[in-house]
Amino acid sequence: MTRSTAGLTIATARVVAAAGIRGRPSGAGEDPRGRGIGGRLRARAARRQVQSVALLARTPGFVRLRDEIVALADPRPHERVLDVGAGSGLLALAVASGVSEVIAVDRSPAMCRHLAERAAALALDNVTVVEADAACLPLPDDSIDLALSNYCLHHLDDAGKRQALRELARVLRPGGRVVIGDMMFRLGLASSRDRRVLASFARAMLRRGPAGIGRLLKNALKLLLAPSEHPAGADWWRRALGEAGFTNVGARELEHEAGLVWGRRAG
Ligand SMILES: C[S@@+](CC[C@H](N)C(=O)[O-])C[C@H]1O[C@@H](n2cnc3c(N)ncnc32)[C@H](O)[C@@H]1O
Repeated sequence: MTRSTAGLTIATARVVAAAGIRGRPSGAGEDPRGRGIGGRLRARAARRQVQSVALLARTPGFVRLRDEIVALADPRPHERVLDVGAGSGLLALAVASGVSEVIAVDRSPAMCRHLAERAAALALDNVTVVEADAACLPLPDDSIDLALSNYCLHHLDDAGKRQALRELARVLRPGGRVVIGDMMFRLGLASSRDRRVLASFARAMLRRGPAGIGRLLKNALKLLLAPSEHPAGADWWRRALGEAGFTNVGARELEHEAGLVWGRRAG
């Protein structure tokens, strides 16, 4: 662990206790180098995930999506903001300097360490990185003003997404806002948008030649055997937010695969 990470971990632990957060502060309890063959393989997979999430966050599409989410959310200086599935900090680091505090939650320890290091390098001492699952947030009720999330919740199946939305409703104060950006289509051919998104993905892969065809086949196989992505359409999101206790719910599909959904906690 680097000096700065250690410093941040200590600082983070203090903030975690002060804020009443029960989760594990980033960097705690895991050897990033991995022990034994299994440990080393897991550590390598975790490093790869960090690299690919960080790369994705620098693509023009993600930067545009971040800007749309932040514009819709309109964070205020006094607000305590939660970023769920924060990854390399696309949203958390973008809003940190303009708000009172950011709690950045991610279930991947390696991702959390990476984000904590980035926040330290930017001298953002109001960012607390917490290793936790979106479906079980270690935060007190009514403790958050604004909840954000980008491209995280499609990793949960529909029941998991609903549970994560209930958690967001629980931790948001009455009147608190949520803005979520994510893939917004169904993996099927039922609607014209679903067909368009899947066809455009297939065309983009085919244009890449053999590597793209390989990825297309790998994705198709993964989908059949062990699906790890469960995107939902805008109508599903609207309904699910309403059921979780949000009002003023709205959703917007963007031109590409992504979309935005937002709401306000009733109360
Ligand atoms: C595609 S990345 C997006 C990261 C970041 N929000 C961004 O826009 O760049 C998805 C992130 O969500 C995290 N994640 C996936 N499932 C999660 C869950 N159930 N709870 C918390 N984090 C999760 C992953 O570890 C990963 O860092």
